[in-house]
Amino acid sequence: MSIENYHTDDPLVALSAISETINTIYDLDELLPKVLDIALKTVNAQRGFILISDPGNPAELSVRVAHNLESSALANIDRFSRSVVNAALQSGSTVISYDVPEDARFSSAQSVAEQKIIAAACLPLRIKAQQIGAIYIDSTETRGKFRPEMEPFLNALANQAAIAIENAQMYDRLRSENRRLRLVLADKKELAGIIGQSRPMQQVLDVVKSVMDTPATVLILGESGTGKELIARALHDNGKYKDKPFIALFCGALPESLLESELFGHKQGAFTGATHDKKGLFEEADGGTFFLDEIGDISPKLQTQLLRVLQEREVRRIGENKVRKIDVRIVAASNKDLPAEVKAGRFREDLFYRLNVIMIQMPALRYRSNDIILLAQHFLDKTAARAGRQIQGFTQEAVEGMLQHDWPGNVRELENAVERAVLLAKAEFITPQDLRLEPPTPAKEIMTLQDHERRIAERALAEHNGNVTEAAKALGVSRRWLHYRLKEWRE
Ligand SMILES: Nc1ncnc2c1ncn2[C@@H]1O[C@H](COP(=O)(O)OP(=O)(O)OP(=O)(O)O)[C@@H](O)[C@H]1O
Ligand SMILES: [Mg+2]
Repeated sequence: MSIENYHTDDPLVALSAISETINTIYDLDELLPKVLDIALKTVNAQRGFILISDPGNPAELSVRVAHNLESSALANIDRFSRSVVNAALQSGSTVISYDVPEDARFSSAQSVAEQKIIAAACLPLRIKAQQIGAIYIDSTETRGKFRPEMEPFLNALANQAAIAIENAQMYDRLRSENRRLRLVLADKKELAGIIGQSRPMQQVLDVVKSVMDTPATVLILGESGTGKELIARALHDNGKYKDKPFIALFCGALPESLLESELFGHKQGAFTGATHDKKGLFEEADGGTFFLDEIGDISPKLQTQLLRVLQEREVRRIGENKVRKIDVRIVAASNKDLPAEVKAGRFREDLFYRLNVIMIQMPALRYRSNDIILLAQHFLDKTAARAGRQIQGFTQEAVEGMLQHDWPGNVRELENAVERAVLLAKAEFITPQDLRLEPPTPAKEIMTLQDHERRIAERALAEHNGNVTEAAKALGVSRRWLHYRLKEWRE
C-alpha cells in the first residue's frame, strides 16, 4: 500500500502502511518530510515542523523540516509553538491542545491570537528513554480541530517515526564512516607496479598522488634508469585523465624538422613530402597527457616553439595560419641537470620555469638501498613467471653484492641484471656470479677524502629531498658549511 492512500477508516491498516513506508527510507532528508506530511494529513493540520536533536548534544534541537513555517532552531520558533514543544519535551509525552484559545496552558501567548491557532500538538520522538526530537503540528482552520481518538494514532506514528529516524541516522553515520575509510585506503594505496618503500621514493609517490588529478605541468629529473618514464605514466594512469590519451615523444634522437612536424602537425604541401594534412601530437593528446621525454635535448628553435605552446595553450600546424586551442597536461623528463643547462645557456630559462611547475627529482638507486632488494625480488618474480623458471630467490652473497653495488644504471641496470640472472641461473637461488655484478672498481679504493665527503653529503641531500638545512643537521655540520661545499663542488 502506498503512502498516498493511508487514509482509511481502519487506523491499524493506515498505521501498518505508514510504518512499511517510512521504515524503507534510509535518507533522513527524504524521510522527515514524509513523516511530517503524514502527521499533518492525519489531523488535517496546516502547519508543522520536525525538530531533531544534535547527536553530539541531545539538548540542542533544530528544525530539520517545516511546513508553512520557517525557523531553524528551537529558540527561533514563535513563543507559542515553543511552549507546546517544551511542555512535551519536559513531560516526555504527547501534548495536545484541542482548543487553544480556551487552554489555560498556552492561551496567553501572543501568537495564538495573531495567527488564530485553534489546535496544536507536539509528539516527542523517543528511543528508549532518550529524546531524539519532536514533531510539532498546529491548525488554524475549524476543519482542523483535533479529535481525542486521534491521540493513540499520533503516538503510534511518533514511535514508528522515531525508529525510522534512528535507523536513517545510523545509516548516515555508516555511510560517512565508509567514505572516510575509503579515503584513507585511497591515500594508502600504492601506485600499481611502482616499488618504493624508501623515504626518497615515498616522497616522490606523495607528490605523484597529490598532483595526478590536477592539470599542473610536471618536470621529472633524474639519472638514467631511475624510473622517470614509469612516473610519467603513473601520473596519467592513476589520475583523472586516465581515460584520455597518453602520448609520449622521445625528443632525444629526432632531427629538428621531424620533431617539429611530429609535435605540431602540418598542412598538405607545407614541405616536400607533406602529402596530406596531419595532426600534430599535441592535438592527438588533447584532453590527456603529453609526455616529452629527454626535453633537455631539444633545439633552441623548438624550445621557443614549446614555450609558446605552454604560454598560449595553442598550436599551429606547419604551413597553416589557423591556431588551435589545446587542453593537454604536459609532463617532461630529462636526465640532464636542467638548471645547469640553463646556467650554461643551452636551455631557455623561461621554458625551464614553465616546465618546472611541479618538479619531481628521481633519487638514484644508490640512495635508496631499502628498495634494492624489493625491486630485485619484483623483477625476479616477473621474469621467472614469464620464462617459466622455478627460481626461489637470491643467495645471501647475492643480496650483499646488490646492496654494495653502485648501480650507475639505476633501476634499469638492476632489472637487466636480474632478468639475465633468472635466465642463466643453474640453481634455485641466484648467486653473485649469475648477477655478474662488476666488482668495485679500483678507482673507488683511491677515492680522496674530498670524494668521500662529497658522496656522503650528496646522499644526505637526496635523503632529505634536497633540503640543505635538514641534510646539514643529519650530517652534523653547519648549514653554511654545506652550502659552501655544494657551491665549490658544483663549480
Ligand atoms: N620504482 C620502480 N618500480 C618498479 N620498476 C621500476 C621502478 N623504477 C624503474 N623501474 C623500471 O626500470 C626501468 C627503467 O625505468 P624508466 O624507463 O622509467 O627510467 P628513465 O628514468 O625513464 O630512464 P632513462 O633516463 O634512461 O630514459 C623500467 O623498466 C621501469 O619499469
Ligand atoms: Mg626514459
